[in-house]
Amino acid sequence: MSRVKLLDREFELSIPEEKLLKAVDKVAEQMNKDLEGKNPLMVCVLNGSFMFASDLMKRLTIPCEISFVKLSSYSGTGSTGKVKELIGLNEDIAGRTIVLLEDIVDTGLTIINTVEQVKQMGPADVKVATMLFKPDACKRDVKLDYVGMDIPNDFIVGYGLDYDGYGRNLKDIYTVVE
Ligand code: IMP
Repeated sequence: MSRVKLLDREFELSIPEEKLLKAVDKVAEQMNKDLEGKNPLMVCVLNGSFMFASDLMKRLTIPCEISFVKLSSYSGTGSTGKVKELIGLNEDIAGRTIVLLEDIVDTGLTIINTVEQVKQMGPADVKVATMLFKPDACKRDVKLDYVGMDIPNDFIVGYGLDYDGYGRNLKDIYTVVE
């Protein structure tokens, strides 16, 4: 499938599954090395990062746990700039190594806000892993510990990412056709 139509927009294949999984392999390899002995709590930021979290967890060989939180700030193809509260992190994370799992860092607003909220809960360390990063869109100073791949500043869907709720189920990534 080289093109898909979701609602009113057309998208064309831009990153095949194989390439995405190679990027996940690379992130897992790094984590297996530097999180050894840290018993990290992986925190999957829903909805978009469920596929990344699933593929990553299957590749981690170190002892670790996973938890799922929600924090949404996006509607349609433009960032609203609004930030919502982090919901669902009910574990006692005091003194623990937390690894936030994000689908994509675009403007960086969401991840900066999420890190701040998690830090207030007293962890030993907060690391950030994002499957995708748009360096040209991110003007803020964001510390990303693990990045699957850098991508151009275009709107994409698939591999967990959506356009108004659709396209999350696509195994490959597609870019909007302008
Ligand atoms: P940021 O706060 O601008 O970094 O945006 C982060 C959130 O916006 C991500 O977690 C996604 O939910 C959403 N997002 C950013 N870029 C895209 C995209 O190209 N497609 C779909 N969702 C996106």
